[in-house]
Amino acid sequence: MSKKKVLGISFGRKMSNTEVMIKTALMECEKAGNEVKFIRADDLNIQDCTGCIACVVGLLQGASGKCVIKDDMHIIDEALMECDAVIVGSPTYVLAPTGRFKTVCDRLGPSHDVAFRTEAKKAGIERGGKPEQLPDERSFKKRIGALITVGGAMTQNWLSFAMPSMYEFTISMGTSVVDKYEYFGAMAHEHVVGNKEVMDRMVVMGQNIAEALKCEDDTELTKWRGNDEGICPVCHCDMLTVLHKENKVECPVCGISGDLALVDGKIKVNFSEAEKNRSRLFYAGKLEHQVEISTKAVGPGQIPNKKELLEKYLGYGE
Ligand SMILES: Cc1cc2nc3c(=O)[nH]c(=O)nc-3n(C[C@H](O)[C@H](O)[C@H](O)COP(=O)(O)O)c2cc1C
Repeated sequence: MSKKKVLGISFGRKMSNTEVMIKTALMECEKAGNEVKFIRADDLNIQDCTGCIACVVGLLQGASGKCVIKDDMHIIDEALMECDAVIVGSPTYVLAPTGRFKTVCDRLGPSHDVAFRTEAKKAGIERGGKPEQLPDERSFKKRIGALITVGGAMTQNWLSFAMPSMYEFTISMGTSVVDKYEYFGAMAHEHVVGNKEVMDRMVVMGQNIAEALKCEDDTELTKWRGNDEGICPVCHCDMLTVLHKENKVECPVCGISGDLALVDGKIKVNFSEAEKNRSRLFYAGKLEHQVEISTKAVGPGQIPNKKELLEKYLGYGE
């Protein structure tokens, strides 16, 4: 049997905390017989998404949805398509992952959405499209992932949006996150190396990925292996949005709502099975969005008097 492939991507400084943590987990994966690859995002020229929506329009027409920007994103794209598991790490900058991390997530956005790609493949085959005109077949492989964020602050609340935002890397491709770790108090370059507790935890992360990759069955492969259960039973994060409708709250990562209650003085949220199943981390949640966009969104050319309506804004205040 060919070796499973584990990819590590760091958005941190060269040879600094995030990189050392990812590499520690990768070394463990390699020790367990997997093939590993490491990418430092800072070494690549990745441009911002221009919002041209060529990917969305292409996919809705049954084409590959390839991005039109010519830069180094193809290196990340190819490594992601090839891998069976990905370990992604970003420092926390101003409470959230870095700008480059977000740039890469935007470039993975609709263009790599597994529901958009599945529907595009069906439509493409129907209209007789050649394999090279269809979305990459490797898009449909089940992948797992682990997330790491590192903050320099001494208090966890300076990393507030970091971990929930790290899921942005995995949502569109449908990568199932099986472990995550948030570390704070690491301002200096070398803070983490030699920190036994953190290094040991990264060894466990590597082992969790390696163990998962041995599983044939998708339920076992994608099983949660992290330490913390979190308030949301799907993404295991602790963030909630208040919906101002009775006791309803929403998980901002999964987009699912539940009923908040105090049980023995502790906050609990009951998410129904139906809600859990429509999390955007799952195919059903992504398909819900694909259907909404393909049937209800206002596409280009649908406002007949657009030119007239836009006239007063042209050049205003520039
Ligand atoms: C622009 C900038 C903003 C930062 N904002 C935060 C922050 O909001 N919270 C925090 O905990 N650390 C913050 N930090 C500290 C970094 O998260 C910390 O230095 C981390 O170790 C960097 O990861 P690295 O060593 O892998 O590069 C910030 C650092 C920079 C450069």
